[in-house]
Amino acid sequence: MRVALTGATGFLGLRLVRELLCVHDSLTILAHAGSGCALGRITRFMELSGAPDALVEALPGRLHVVETDLSRPLLGLAPAEYRRLADELDVIWHSAGNINLDDDLASLRRTNVDGTRHVLELAAAGAGRPLVHHIGTAFVGGARRDGVVYEDELDDRHGFENNYERSKYEAEVLVRDWSRRHGRPVVVMRPSVLVTDMPPHPELPPHPLRFLARIVEASLPGGGSAEGEPPPEHRPVVRLAGHPLGHLNLMPVEHAAAVMVRLAGLPPSGGADVYHVVHDHDVASTVLTALVERIAPVRVRLVDSRPDDPAPLEAAVDLYPGFTPYLSHRRRFDDTRVRSLLGPLPSGIRVGLDYLVDGVAPRTASTTGAP
Ligand SMILES: NC(=O)c1ccc[n+]([C@@H]2O[C@H](COP(=O)([O-])OP(=O)(O)OC[C@H]3O[C@@H](n4cnc5c(N)ncnc54)[C@H](OP(=O)(O)O)[C@@H]3O)[C@@H](O)[C@H]2O)c1
Repeated sequence: MRVALTGATGFLGLRLVRELLCVHDSLTILAHAGSGCALGRITRFMELSGAPDALVEALPGRLHVVETDLSRPLLGLAPAEYRRLADELDVIWHSAGNINLDDDLASLRRTNVDGTRHVLELAAAGAGRPLVHHIGTAFVGGARRDGVVYEDELDDRHGFENNYERSKYEAEVLVRDWSRRHGRPVVVMRPSVLVTDMPPHPELPPHPLRFLARIVEASLPGGGSAEGEPPPEHRPVVRLAGHPLGHLNLMPVEHAAAVMVRLAGLPPSGGADVYHVVHDHDVASTVLTALVERIAPVRVRLVDSRPDDPAPLEAAVDLYPGFTPYLSHRRRFDDTRVRSLLGPLPSGIRVGLDYLVDGVAPRTASTTGAP
């Protein structure tokens, strides 16, 4: 079986490669052209994440890299190479994307919407009728802050919290329309926010909550040095818009990849099979504010709405405006379909404060509160 994967060098894609190599002998990596050596980056991830030596040594023989640009027609390939690729594939995993919540809509659409359209065109172009596994996001649920979001739902009636959500919504609409028009099955996997406790490393893709580490730099007078931090009671108070009973679903990326590969092993229904790939417990927004307090010398107070007159420090702590609304969310993502097919999915991983600190800014004397 010929299995291809876009986005294999990404935060999620690297974990998908590792899981997929447990069930397939080889993979075709549709790498991002001009973005560094994909094989080298995947190899480095395997080494840093403790993969067995035998797996690391076998990578050059098991991964077949094709350089592509998803934002271009024919993925930027020569027509003959495109045709060959289209004819030989049985499965396409589409994980590439732009995950910058606040990017301008045109850039997000280029990668997330046009990129998805070009992947679907590839799936329709060849003799092989490959099955498409599209990585969406639970956040196509948009700016709806309460209630339950079900796996079948896809509408824009609540609006969106940021441009990223809108672009991913538009991409999923394309995927579902394509499935209907072509009478082809598609699998849509919608993870929540993906996280890890693997410490940050310059050779690894950044953690989706990486902006929290930038808050530290912005809020520490010494440009990131914890030297001379004031004691907790003297730290400045910053106001952040959020709900004291808010909660957010954060899914360990390693567990998400494992669940996705299990879902991919099920027989498709023939239409669009949509799955929420989420953790069984949400994380309270107060844990996220505690995370900010753990890594930056501030005290966070949740307020009803974004302050009209933010102090410079408050502006610094609110430096990822696309994310801040999630501190007000109290909705839940239903994953009944996943659990009814795979059974209960306890990851055994508690996504709490220590777990989050490790993945964003590994614990030091100052972040543990030790003297
Ligand atoms: N991270 C999350 O919390 C999260 C949550 C829900 C859903 N998702 C979805 O999961 C998928 C993977 O996200 P991620 O966290 O792995 O993102 P990521 O770490 O930013 O990785 C993005 C991947 O897409 C590739 N890519 C970007 N533009 C491309 C282009 N024009 N042509 C070819 N490849 C391109 C990148 O290649 P280079 O690195 O070589 O540029 C990289 O491999 C996305 O669809 C995202 O929407 C992510």
